[in-house]
Amino acid sequence: MKTPTLRPRSTGPAEVGTEFVPIAEEARNEAPRAGIDPDRSLSWLRRAMPIMRAHKGIFLTSLALSFVGLILQVQIPNLLNKAIGNSLQHHTVPLSYYVWWIVGLGVASGVTGYIARLFLFETAYDIEYDLRNIIYEHLTKMSFGFYDRVQSGQLISRANSDIRSVQMYMTFAPLILVQCSLAVIAFGYMLSYSVPLAFVAMAMMPLVFWTGVRMRNSMFPVSWIIQARLADVATIVDENVNGVRVVKSFAAEQQQLRALSGAAERVQWGYIRDADLRAKFTPLVQNLPQVGLALVLVFGGYMVIHGSLQIGAIVAFNSYLLMLQAPFMMLGMLIMMGQRAAASADRIYEILDEQPTVTDAPDAADLTDCAGDVRFRHVDFAYGEDDEQLVLADFDLHVRPGQTVAIVGRTGAGKSTVARLLARFYDVRHGSVELDGHDVRDLTLASLRANVGVVLDEPFLFSVSIRDNIAYGRPSATPAEVEAAARAAGAHEFISHLSAGYDTVVGERGYTLSGGQRQRIAIARTLLVNPPVLVLDDATSAIDVQVEQTIHAGLKLLMEGRTTLIIAHRLSTISLADRVVLLDSQRVVADGTHAELLASTPLYAEVLAQAAEFEAADERVDEEASDVESDAGDGQLGALLDAVRTGGDR
Ligand SMILES: Nc1ncnc2c1ncn2[C@@H]1O[C@H](COP(=O)(O)OP(=O)(O)O)[C@@H](O)[C@H]1O
Ligand SMILES: [Mg+2]
Repeated sequence: MKTPTLRPRSTGPAEVGTEFVPIAEEARNEAPRAGIDPDRSLSWLRRAMPIMRAHKGIFLTSLALSFVGLILQVQIPNLLNKAIGNSLQHHTVPLSYYVWWIVGLGVASGVTGYIARLFLFETAYDIEYDLRNIIYEHLTKMSFGFYDRVQSGQLISRANSDIRSVQMYMTFAPLILVQCSLAVIAFGYMLSYSVPLAFVAMAMMPLVFWTGVRMRNSMFPVSWIIQARLADVATIVDENVNGVRVVKSFAAEQQQLRALSGAAERVQWGYIRDADLRAKFTPLVQNLPQVGLALVLVFGGYMVIHGSLQIGAIVAFNSYLLMLQAPFMMLGMLIMMGQRAAASADRIYEILDEQPTVTDAPDAADLTDCAGDVRFRHVDFAYGEDDEQLVLADFDLHVRPGQTVAIVGRTGAGKSTVARLLARFYDVRHGSVELDGHDVRDLTLASLRANVGVVLDEPFLFSVSIRDNIAYGRPSATPAEVEAAARAAGAHEFISHLSAGYDTVVGERGYTLSGGQRQRIAIARTLLVNPPVLVLDDATSAIDVQVEQTIHAGLKLLMEGRTTLIIAHRLSTISLADRVVLLDSQRVVADGTHAELLASTPLYAEVLAQAAEFEAADERVDEEASDVESDAGDGQLGALLDAVRTGGDR
């Protein structure tokens, strides 16, 4: 097979090393404006202060303007009092004087209030934007071990609602406090009219506040429950959509529907509880101030009749009471928002405080001119913390530059683990993995991964065109280079038969293609980067034997002068290698040519025979699975999923 633009490795590794530009280098993202304070002993709000400080100009302006607006507003009842006294009762000042003042103050307070709200919301969404960037930037840094543990659906839906509740508290709490300062001024005016009546009028306020607190306290747990149950529904829908092939192949739709309706019912229960509590408390909270008004009327009316109070004062008291009702209720809400924001912040910080385990060492060097000498020295490795569960123990392997080695072993023997350690997806416990004599931990991750191309056992495709999928590691590749890589991977033929050819957009995760087709695109993607070290982790397992034969010719040419590790269980694939190592009980137990191993190690023949059996079974399953492939999740399902995911995020 001819590969016009894809050079075999022998043309010189230096050139390739300099040619590869990781995607992130090309389109570098702007770093978030601020981060959280790394000091964990501080309170959550203190830790979030750097973010607030990044927006302090606009935020303080907004608070100042809303304060001004409130000051203006609080004058109005006082003017009303004067208007009633001076214009209506004593006719000393024309009524229009007060009317104009009140209209003027109302307009001014409206304008300042508008600008203040605009700035406040801008601050809120700036903070939300920053938090989102900080979290996602952090997530991209996290190592494989982190992603093994977390549930991505929960991570996404929680990140959204948690960001929202922190943002709300950070912007609205100061605003509510400003509004409560209004109460002080209003109370001052009331005192100036009549000290006893001021206390009578305010008598109900502690009760309003207390009822607000009670209401929030009983609604708070319910809202948490609703949040959690919405996340459950999101998880079930998520699994239904992504696992649709399994669901359908077991005809388990009814079972899934039952699970979903059960979860939906639990959400419904939460919402009904919530509505019940609201229905109970809202009339109480709304009508308590009316009791205050009645008290003002009784006592104030008595005072007016006896001449110790102006009639206008009663009207002013009335307005002040209505004005104060909202801040007092919000004060209760503030407590709930605070509790909620603290819990949300804890969960956000839990993610942000987790440090990536696999990172560049401070003095890490770029690997250039990679020859491709691979060496595992006395490697101990386990995925978890538990030392008992070592996947590799005292594992040794040396692959010389340009050599092609097949790694064979039972399922779960640790073959994929070897591949992952070479690309430093995880760090070894003891011993070392070396590339060209450098410990991989002394190299920059970007240069290491540019030099070690891994075709993973589960090919993941993005929902973009086939061309963009292949060019993922080298977006600047020309169409001719993309095609050459596809030819080498045996993918060109089927791609050219697709209606839109290389511009065909694959469905989510590439499910509109067969497993073997996906694998070929994944191989092409790695070949295009042209790495000096190539690792094929079961990369041809789903490709027909016949098709694989045609790929082999291309692969053979590409393996020339390139260090290649092939993880395989098919005899035909193994035959591509000069050398076979058999992996068992945490280390290499046999090493030699295929013929040597066959003669010397009974386990080798056993593993191959077992693999052949699995393969026969696999093919049967593949055929069944391809029947449901046309039902792949489309845009509508995606939208549905989004709706459910953000459902709890109000
Ligand atoms: N991400 C992971 N987290 C925890 N354990 C894992 C992970 N991946 C693999 N393992 C475990 O490590 C062992 C080796 O796995 P693997 O290297 O994938 O085997 P192979 O590729 O030879 O089939 C298995 O026992 C498997 O259960
Ligand atoms: Mg594997």
